[in-house]
Amino acid sequence: MSTGFTLWFTGLSGAGKSTISQLVEQRLRERGLKVELLDGDVVRTNLSKGLGFSKEDRDENIRRIGFVCELLSRNGVATIAAFISPYRAIRDEVRGKIANFVEVYVECPLDTLIARDVKGLYKRALAGEVKNFTGVSDPYEVPVNPEVVVRTNEQTPEQSATAVVRKLEELGYLSSPNGTHG
Ligand SMILES: Nc1ncnc2c1ncn2[C@@H]1O[C@H](COP(=O)(O)OP(=O)(O)OP(=O)(O)O)[C@@H](O)[C@H]1O
Ligand SMILES: [Mg+2]
Repeated sequence: MSTGFTLWFTGLSGAGKSTISQLVEQRLRERGLKVELLDGDVVRTNLSKGLGFSKEDRDENIRRIGFVCELLSRNGVATIAAFISPYRAIRDEVRGKIANFVEVYVECPLDTLIARDVKGLYKRALAGEVKNFTGVSDPYEVPVNPEVVVRTNEQTPEQSATAVVRKLEELGYLSSPNGTHG
């Protein structure tokens, strides 16, 4: 059985967590790994149904997701989570419970996110129409020691995915595709 691990993407809305994690998911599958991607609405409508966006509910959401990640990764699954997960303490709590935890900070300046505004939510949040919107009307606590930082205003999604895969190789969770080491 290959070593399981949890790849934890954190960052502001629109930073690129889903985009990059889907690319990484594909690349891990191509290498024959069992992969499970936990992301977005599927989790909010099933595992976390009823939870909102207060600090308590966000923490509970992340705690539940972390629990599932632990179950999967200890059974050899390459587990990927892509959630804003704005609070450092709860991310670190999850880290403490998972043996092979790899945190990926998806960094992007707010002005770029406001310009992208893929879902139109920044515009609404800035107009005061969305409460508890991370980065605008709710805090985001930047990771202190993430294993990987990807800067999506400077890198393409492919470059970011490559950086993540390289880190997994470096940590020994993934062998190099051509069998070489170092
Ligand atoms: N270098 C880049 N890396 C990732 N995404 C990028 C990049 N440049 C532009 N984008 C675009 O930014 C958007 C990122 O959206 P995505 O849904 O991946 O963000 P997210 O972090 O998952 O947000 P949310 O927390 O709202 O789910 C996509 O439309 C993507 O095409
Ligand atoms: Mg997303």
